[in-house]
Amino acid sequence: MSSSSSIDLSRYRSQFPALSMHQDDRPLIFFDNPGGTQVSAGVVEAMQRYLLTANANVHGPFLTSRRTDVVLAEAHGAMADLLNAPSPDEIVFGQNMTSLTFAIARSIGRELHAGDEIVVTALDHDANIAPWLALAERGVQVQCADFHPEDCTLDYVHLASLVNERTKLVAVGLASNAVGTINDLRRVVAMARAVGALVYVDAVQAAPHFPVDVQALGCDFLACSAYKFFGPHQGIVWGKREQLERLQAYKVRPAPNELPSKWETGTQSHEGQAGTLAAIEHIASIGRDHADRYANATRLLEGRRAELRAGMLAIRDYEQVLSRHFLACMHQLPALTLYGIADAQRVAERVPTFAVTLPGWTPQQLSAELAERGIATWAGHYYALTLVERLGQLPSGGMLRIGCAHYNTTAELDTLFAILQELNERGTMRAA
Ligand SMILES: Cc1ncc(COP(=O)(O)O)c(C=O)c1O
Repeated sequence: MSSSSSIDLSRYRSQFPALSMHQDDRPLIFFDNPGGTQVSAGVVEAMQRYLLTANANVHGPFLTSRRTDVVLAEAHGAMADLLNAPSPDEIVFGQNMTSLTFAIARSIGRELHAGDEIVVTALDHDANIAPWLALAERGVQVQCADFHPEDCTLDYVHLASLVNERTKLVAVGLASNAVGTINDLRRVVAMARAVGALVYVDAVQAAPHFPVDVQALGCDFLACSAYKFFGPHQGIVWGKREQLERLQAYKVRPAPNELPSKWETGTQSHEGQAGTLAAIEHIASIGRDHADRYANATRLLEGRRAELRAGMLAIRDYEQVLSRHFLACMHQLPALTLYGIADAQRVAERVPTFAVTLPGWTPQQLSAELAERGIATWAGHYYALTLVERLGQLPSGGMLRIGCAHYNTTAELDTLFAILQELNERGTMRAA
């Protein structure tokens, strides 16, 4: 494989109409990607095409209904390819990751008893904590694994100390939405397997940044959201067939018992699935353009699975260029505090999501100043409530989050840092 430093994905920017918007003659810059990415024109076209030419309920005899069945089958197939899932039947679509996780947790909870334990982590978004905490009503004990505050990596020793024969499930994120840490999932899965516990993975912040392979991870469930990987607002959960078949779903009586319908309650967002399919096609097209570069890494996969893996590897490698650039810029601004991995040698252990604070400014003030200059960021805890609390940043408004996607550029980071530099000087003057 050639060196990752030479890869540049900026040519795909033209496929994202939002990236050509301006505010007061300045091009808009999107660094709120962990909150939600922009969509490609292909996604909008696919949603429009669905609504104009195929809009119907499923399984009817007429043309638009038959077209709907085709689109939904293709969307399940594409998601299975993206996650390298064994079968499209194991892909469940739903409103969003949070709703799907509450639904699965509630069904798992049906089988748990007082004294059973669940382990969550302090690094996670609340969507992979609160649904499990809700089972405390049934007498289930929820334990929380800590992280190392100095680099925001999971404390695997603490996690191991919490996993025991009473543990029925470990809920863990693959990548943090706040500080960007990528967790060593295989290590967590091995701990859970040793005691026969299930593993529920939140991959919402992994799916936009690197290949996610449910078979390689060895987990039981994995959830993500299409609006974080260039698609529409749409949640997805993959579950191992044996778990999805065995667990009892909360559903209406006439709804089928087969997978995945059993879990896809009510009428789905068909246009959302059409858009998700197009977002996946965008990733596959990046893969086709970089097939030679990643031929070695994809040789065991076929067709679209190989293209998607190549596409996600290209995204990962380009985003590591952005991460290294971000960390290099930080050296020019020592007043900025970064929460998370700061070592440029370790960019493979993080996604390009950075949480920072700057003396003299609250995160909300910084975000507002940047917004005035056309730069989108987020300030606060971004629902990673336990993490921000643990870092002691909650009383001061959390942190400013700067999150890159594959359509961001090093030039955009330079613009951001020039403004942060100027704000730092103003902040110092205000304090003096
Ligand atoms: C890591 C993580 N998990 C879960 C969620 C919730 O996803 P959804 O909005 O699809 O419910 C988010 C949303 O920001 C997230 O970043």
